Amino acid sequence: MADASGRRDEPLVLGIETSCDETGVGIVRGHTLLADAVASSVEEHARFGGVVPEVASRAHLEAMVPTIRRALKEAGVAARDLDGIAVTAGPGLSGALLVGVSAAKAYAYALGKPLYGVNHLASHICVDQLEHGALPEPTMALLVSGGHSSLLLAPDITSDVRPLGSTIDDAAGEAFDKVARVLHLGFPGGPVIDRIAREGDPNAIRFPRGLTGPRDAAYDFSFSGLKTSVARWIEAKRAAGEEVPVADVSASFQEAVADVLTRKAVRACKDNGVDHLMIGGGVAANSRLRAMAARRCEDAGITLRIPRPKLCTDNGAMVAALGAEMVARGRAASAWDLSADSSLPVTEPHVPATAANEHGHSPGHGHSHGPAQGHDHDHDHDHFHELSKDNLYS
Ligand code: KG4
Ligand code: ZN
Repeated sequence: MADASGRRDEPLVLGIETSCDETGVGIVRGHTLLADAVASSVEEHARFGGVVPEVASRAHLEAMVPTIRRALKEAGVAARDLDGIAVTAGPGLSGALLVGVSAAKAYAYALGKPLYGVNHLASHICVDQLEHGALPEPTMALLVSGGHSSLLLAPDITSDVRPLGSTIDDAAGEAFDKVARVLHLGFPGGPVIDRIAREGDPNAIRFPRGLTGPRDAAYDFSFSGLKTSVARWIEAKRAAGEEVPVADVSASFQEAVADVLTRKAVRACKDNGVDHLMIGGGVAANSRLRAMAARRCEDAGITLRIPRPKLCTDNGAMVAALGAEMVARGRAASAWDLSADSSLPVTEPHVPATAANEHGHSPGHGHSHGPAQGHDHDHDHDHFHELSKDNLYS
């Protein structure tokens, strides 16, 4: 029987998220959100125009224990009652991830609980279970954040996530942040462009829609050309001594992003015979994207699932949600030597202990523990969010 704090027979999991500038600690029981505590260091980064990894790591270190305590208090649960501790193992900033992974290990070891190193991107999808209940299988997900933009088909969010396409250059959130920078709107750019765009005309300027030609990859994205086009348009206005219509530029840019994202996502659903679309990640908080997705999905007979904005941007509840799903499905816990992996691929929803490296140590629930699997992939996201004048127009 369900009660206010969730079903007693569902796993009670604490999740820790430190992949970027948010120290998030969430507690869930199955699909029920009990606590979502977030401490952000965003203001410390604002003057640099992007997240400074060292500043983020230090802020996580300071915020970690108080945020964990706050979450436990908010949930009204004792740490000893937890069924597991989940933590973002990647992708993200190495130093920032390391703080969360170290804290999760320390708490899990001290409490005798299984440890689950999970994927940040899969967590952005799984969080919707807290809002709309069990994810359909397969789930079609449009994942749009500061570091990633992908269309993913997930037959099982704990073990099987398949990329259909992704950005070939900038992520959608990165484009928002860079355009905001050109417009001198501050960092992060998404929320402020979202707000200012409400006063503007989305059809004032026709900015390019990347990779939407008949021969272009159907599910890949490109936002670099759009960003450059917006920057050039603004430069031309400034060079001519004219005032830049910030609201119209914001609305027109946002329209181009939302148009491409929703068009491709609906097409992916249709092509793959999936009647649901989940949108997750920080950019899913965008009001125009949400409205356009709602209209286009309705027209196409697709059920749309987008979590409330606070669950779209980075938070600990999403990590706890995926951790709870791992426990519920009996997935293997991670090893004590779990390491942060700044470019953990989206195809690995979690980092289980491997049979070849088991230590045989099993706190709490009898899971065997050994070193995590090695990865063979390129490390290209270590710097996400870092902006400089040099890469602004690249
Ligand atoms: O998922 P997230 O919180 O962190 C990453 O994993 O990257 O996403 C952050 C990104 C930033 O680029 C931010 O500008 C963007 O999400 N964002 C938004 C909005 N809120 C956050 N973009 C557009 N509209 C918003 N309302
Ligand atoms: Zn994120």
